[in-house]
Amino acid sequence: VTAAGRPGRLIGVGVGPGDPELLTLKALRLIRQTQVIAWPAPDEGDSFARGVVARFLDEGKTEIAIRVPMRADRRPAQAVYDEAATRIAAHLAAGDDVVVLCEGDPFFFGSFMYLHERLAGRFAVEVVPGVTSLVAVAAATGRPLAARNDALAVIPAPLPDERIAGLLDGADAAAIVKLGRHLPRIARLLGGLGLDKQAVYAERVTLAHQRVLPLAEAGNGDAPYFSMILVYKGAEPWIARLPVGGGAS
Ligand SMILES: C[S@@+](CC[C@H](N)C(=O)[O-])C[C@H]1O[C@@H](n2cnc3c(N)ncnc32)[C@H](O)[C@@H]1O
Repeated sequence: VTAAGRPGRLIGVGVGPGDPELLTLKALRLIRQTQVIAWPAPDEGDSFARGVVARFLDEGKTEIAIRVPMRADRRPAQAVYDEAATRIAAHLAAGDDVVVLCEGDPFFFGSFMYLHERLAGRFAVEVVPGVTSLVAVAAATGRPLAARNDALAVIPAPLPDERIAGLLDGADAAAIVKLGRHLPRIARLLGGLGLDKQAVYAERVTLAHQRVLPLAEAGNGDAPYFSMILVYKGAEPWIARLPVGGGAS
């Protein structure tokens, strides 16, 4: 516990969609001044969130890896979050702040919420919003997401076709996230609904290997995890005026 006898704060920090220049000043300050940094990663391989801020992590810091198995069965992941919360709680109880790095924004489909639900009752929490992939993808495609009274739906690709079709029907604009192995099915579904011509596909936006394409050119294979489709059905004339994917560089 600190000299004042206070426990530390749990700080969820959004690091944005990949380009370190999209870190907020607040995220950077907190990452620099905090000694204990936790980050999510797949069972094997590198942490995307850590990679974004690696250049700012000096050697003196204590790092906590939260390795989450990427499976539909959520039980193993729950055990990982239990264990991570216990380790983080020990630092907080000793008076150290702990920053948890999060891709994009912590509360937009972010795994930070699983630590938050385990620790928020016991410790002070701060959440630092980040540039979410949703707006980064819109910027990369060069097409506005939504305007005026447009309803925007954010749709996880693993949902069943009927549910996705219903959500698309009720929306003027949609972002379809978590594409991965679902890309061929989603492309067929959008084609069947007559929406494929107004759909743009984007992967790894803001990173060196960013790709932005009309959906028809995205191919028939699986997509990487960091990919998204934007669809616009609303009344604004963007689709007619702009080439799909024309904003990419
Ligand atoms: C679990 S969600 C996490 C979202 C994150 N918290 C945020 O605010 O962007 C992961 C999904 O976000 C999208 N995504 C995240 N980063 C991306 C990027 N750089 N380019 C394209 N899509 C991205 C993909 O659809 C991916 O499957």
